[in-house]
Amino acid sequence: MINTTGFLPPQGFIDTLPDDYVRAAHLRNGLSALFTSRGYAGIETPLIESHSLFQSGPSRMPESRQWKTYAPDGSILVIRPDNTTPAVRLACARLTNLPPPIRLHYIQTVLRYPSMSAPAASGVELRQAGVELLGETAPEADAEVIALAIEAIRSSGLESFQIDIGQVGFFKGMMDEAGLTDIDAERMRALVEAKNSLGITLALRDAPLSSEGERSRIASRLQTLPTLFGGIEALDEARRMSGHPRCRAALDNLDAVYSLLRERGLERYLSIDLGMVQSINYYTGIVFRGLTGHLGQPLLSGGRYDDLPAALGRPMGAVGFAIELDQLLTALGRENPDSGGDRVSVAQPDDAAPLVTLAVAKGRLALDTFARLEVAGIDCGEARDPGRKLIVDDPTGRIRFMLVKPCDVPTYVDHGVADAGVAGKDTLMEENRPLYELLDLDIGKCRLCVAGNEERHREALRAATYRVATKYPNIAREFFARRGQPIEIIALGGSVELAPLVGLSDVILDIVESGGTLKANGLSVLEEICAVSARLVVNRVSLKTKTAAIRALVKALEVTQ
Ligand code: PRP
Repeated sequence: MINTTGFLPPQGFIDTLPDDYVRAAHLRNGLSALFTSRGYAGIETPLIESHSLFQSGPSRMPESRQWKTYAPDGSILVIRPDNTTPAVRLACARLTNLPPPIRLHYIQTVLRYPSMSAPAASGVELRQAGVELLGETAPEADAEVIALAIEAIRSSGLESFQIDIGQVGFFKGMMDEAGLTDIDAERMRALVEAKNSLGITLALRDAPLSSEGERSRIASRLQTLPTLFGGIEALDEARRMSGHPRCRAALDNLDAVYSLLRERGLERYLSIDLGMVQSINYYTGIVFRGLTGHLGQPLLSGGRYDDLPAALGRPMGAVGFAIELDQLLTALGRENPDSGGDRVSVAQPDDAAPLVTLAVAKGRLALDTFARLEVAGIDCGEARDPGRKLIVDDPTGRIRFMLVKPCDVPTYVDHGVADAGVAGKDTLMEENRPLYELLDLDIGKCRLCVAGNEERHREALRAATYRVATKYPNIAREFFARRGQPIEIIALGGSVELAPLVGLSDVILDIVESGGTLKANGLSVLEEICAVSARLVVNRVSLKTKTAAIRALVKALEVTQ
């Protein structure tokens, strides 16, 4: 059929229109000129690379994120999924006559399927500008690159931003000290990254530690790790936490880099975060991210990755960063709406707006949430009875409520249009977004279960298909895959108990609170998956840009627990 409205690009890809082209070109040219003037020579690498480059070692990229194609001889190729690995490959294979240090910059696109765990953070076609400094391992090199990152963002015209700096060696030292296996350490890394204290406690419950005393000592340290952010004083607190040589070396290194940046007069842009433990198999030292209150996602990320050049045949130190150009353009448009950029949406707080925007699930969780907030001293009068309004402020102007569908709470928080939200653990597990899970609010308690008719379930297990009706297709897929049970998922929006009654499914996977709905429909719990309760989740950038307000909210809720 002829498309009468014209063809649009495929899902996830965007056209650049003339006005946006001018802004983007101006930004690219400015950054390229800056990097060149600081000694970072420009390079371009091919759009296509060998699949083997991203298959293993420090440059490994999950297969699910790579766009693949084939060469005429049948070998697998990938569309560039990352800029650092090709830049380092080029330096190792093509610049062999150039003695280190080697300084390179690039401005080019990468193509990645969105990450399941960070859908909002990852578009498909990402335009990046970045630098790599190869052949140096001293703190001066880290400081040089971070200073250049700050200069680059400043030169773009963005005024409100900060650079969070961490050191992955601190976490690795703690894992060595705890003697956790690689699998447990990776699980722990994800929990620390999510600032999920409850999850850390539960994970340690199964860990093979020598004694209960040891377990509680490690648990209390790991629970503190996510809170180790702020000014340079966070380093002192970290020093008190661990005397392990690897931890101490990491903190000394971070201190040295911080001091060098302070000497350059850049302290006002810096913040420490020792709970920043992303990609620990790739990064080997300093890690950093650029954050702005205008966005819910980092606009820049970087760090030291000394293992990559060695894996590509030329051992040498390496540190670099990449700026997400589309994120930076969005932030610029929001900071200066008159410049013709993206307008701030109605829910995006500005200086005069309430400090913390809270996404609250409408429906059965709403009343418990408001009751919990009221005990913490927050007036929810209007939010309880908003009429058809979806955005309501508390009388003090400190909290702005956004009333959303329960399954959408993580989406609003992940995108940063809400700073925080209250959502059931079931929804958080299903959405699996990179949010900070700061508190178990002890409300909305229920159980996530497989339920149905026992006999029917047993018959279905022997049949060719086992059909599961659910509002939680991702959880169902993972739960049954782990036990090797092939299933057909029937995704429904509600009243899931109906499905087995009318033969649409064999069982359901759903939350059970009183058990009344199951009972009324002649069904029963076949297996309990986990307990569920509502959690306070916070956007990763909001926690850094609105630290005091969010900490005050958490404290008020904690005290009244
Ligand atoms: C939830 C859940 C069950 C029911 C369980 O549905 O999906 O259907 O509550 O509660 P119970 O054990 O106390 O009976 P909800 O009421 O949120 O509506 P929905 O089915 O339309 O999603």
